[in-house]
Amino acid sequence: MSSTYPVPDNVAEQAWIDAAGYQKMYEQSVADPESFWAEHGKRIHWFKPFSQVKDVSYGPGEVKIRWFHDGTTNVAHNCIDRHLDTKKNDTAIIWEGDSPSDHKHITYGELYEEVCRLANAMKANGVKKGDRVTLYLPMIPEAAYAMLACARIGAIHSVVFGGFSPDALAGRIRDCGSTFVVTADEGLRGGRKVPLKANTDKALESCPDVKTVLVVRRTGGSVTWAEGRDLWYHEELGKVSDDCPAEEMNAEDPLFILYTSGSTGQPKGVLHTTGGYLVYASMTHQYVFDYHDGEVYWCTADVGWVTGHSYIVYGPLANGATTLMFEGVPNYPDASRMWEICDKHKVNIFYTAPTAIRALMREGEQPVTKTRRDSLRLLGSVGEPINPEAWLWYYNVVGEGRCPIVDTWWQTETGGILITPLPGATPLKPGSATRPFFGVKPVIVDAEGHHLEGATEGNLCIADSWPGQMRTVYGDHERFVQTYFSTYPGKYFTGDGCRRDQDGYYWITGRVDDVINVSGHRMGTAEVESALVAHAKVAEAAVVGYPHDLKGQGIYAYVTLVAGEEPHEELRKELVTWVRREIGPIASPDLIQWAPGLPKTRSGKIMRRILRKIAENDYSNLGDTSTLADPGVVDDLVANRMNRA
Ligand code: WT7
Repeated sequence: MSSTYPVPDNVAEQAWIDAAGYQKMYEQSVADPESFWAEHGKRIHWFKPFSQVKDVSYGPGEVKIRWFHDGTTNVAHNCIDRHLDTKKNDTAIIWEGDSPSDHKHITYGELYEEVCRLANAMKANGVKKGDRVTLYLPMIPEAAYAMLACARIGAIHSVVFGGFSPDALAGRIRDCGSTFVVTADEGLRGGRKVPLKANTDKALESCPDVKTVLVVRRTGGSVTWAEGRDLWYHEELGKVSDDCPAEEMNAEDPLFILYTSGSTGQPKGVLHTTGGYLVYASMTHQYVFDYHDGEVYWCTADVGWVTGHSYIVYGPLANGATTLMFEGVPNYPDASRMWEICDKHKVNIFYTAPTAIRALMREGEQPVTKTRRDSLRLLGSVGEPINPEAWLWYYNVVGEGRCPIVDTWWQTETGGILITPLPGATPLKPGSATRPFFGVKPVIVDAEGHHLEGATEGNLCIADSWPGQMRTVYGDHERFVQTYFSTYPGKYFTGDGCRRDQDGYYWITGRVDDVINVSGHRMGTAEVESALVAHAKVAEAAVVGYPHDLKGQGIYAYVTLVAGEEPHEELRKELVTWVRREIGPIASPDLIQWAPGLPKTRSGKIMRRILRKIAENDYSNLGDTSTLADPGVVDDLVANRMNRA
């Protein structure tokens, strides 16, 4: 796909940044990051201004990342209080419920009151600065209130996606030692109820340190109640005042922990801090989405993922924007829902994931074209590479050829967008995340870490820090150093493969580690494997990704049963259910192949390269199999492969 879509004149004229502006500002940002970020660091309000800008070492030796480290500020103050003089009666959050008949507008004034009350209720129940608070909530305004209330009092939130299982929730609660949980009676998605409180009760059976559970009443469904532990949100908020001063936080005080999957072991707690994160989230939100005052901006992510943190809550609210929060799913009540929401709330900027686009594409054009979408002026994509076919449909059918698409590449670890078009500056190529944001220095390296110049392909690293970068893995700085700074010393390694074309455009080719990307959600193959082997009938399991039409990647599991167990269809179903229960529906294996043996080296290491090839249905050239302990197992796996598409 070589066609290029130039920047429309009308877009360039009204945009914050045009092509010349991008060039100049980008060059400044990498030539002199200190003065660039000294200037842009001022975009947020500081109680005590910083005098230090960047204090970073990527090793060797200590890995240390600090930005603006002698400044003090508060994220909730920046997202709310700072706007009250001019925007008290402007809408901060448009909430659209699961049912099309359910919506409300929350003004900045109301947001202030809600957040202050919740902050006071948390304090009244013992939450202090530095405490970890776990949020296990549906997409309701209280999720944003709870994040901001934590930020206001200096507590560190850990949002756990409502689709995760009780076990997954419990593991995350224990890992960060949180003693306070906020949840809801039930969530509501696509007309179906999600038993959040019941899941929490189950999780807490193995979390003895949790003292308090604050429960939002969402559906009114019946819940079991632990006296002395469980409290109703609405009752607690009724007992406190709506005035809660914002805690003065150091720029490097933690703001949140968010668990994400890695190539090995259990999910790690990505830690983001206060000042640099907010500067970066707000700046990228303004420039990447070319946000102008008064516009309605909608990011369809869930607050359980980093996209929801940076681009539903923190970035937009720091910019005084109107941010739309949607409780439901794209195909409920029908496949027009997204576009009907755009019409109903006059959405100007719409940001979603390729997997949603592909799913809607299947339904044909009619559900889109029957809506107006005339308020839309900009589209965004995030979470995985967008295939050119989906890009073109998004561009031509949804955007009617009028709306640039910003294909934004970033990660939980990066806090904000790193590689992306700017709508007024960057000609688009379908499938390419295009160019780096200000201050970002991508480098492509080969397996030995040599820099590859010009048009090339290899592994993507970032050569220097940016303010939104994660600071550590919560409780395990060594794992942080190992995961991101040891493969290619002196550089941040992203885990992604990448191609750079002759125009200097970046094309992300997907993960090069044992992480798979299912519908834009990250899943560690090791996590799925450990869930499978926890089943009594499973002796061994190896999990890889394979190309999936809708999900981008599907989960392919090779399972060896314990001696004496015979494979059968019921067991296959049972294992799928088992993994869903252990981790959550997003981890469900799509294909399970019974494997009498797995291809292993003589030292016992599973050769995943071969398993990946078979799963991709590309078994003709399996490469060198002579080092296998038992080359015969490969023939059996090929003969019985599941993905014959
Ligand atoms: C991984 C990060 C960042 C928020 C959502 C996912 C993949 C993300 C793109 C894109 C190609 C992308 C990468 C990355 N990814 N955006 N625009 N083009 N790939 O966050 O769960 O931390 O996953 O998602 O592989 O490493 P995450």
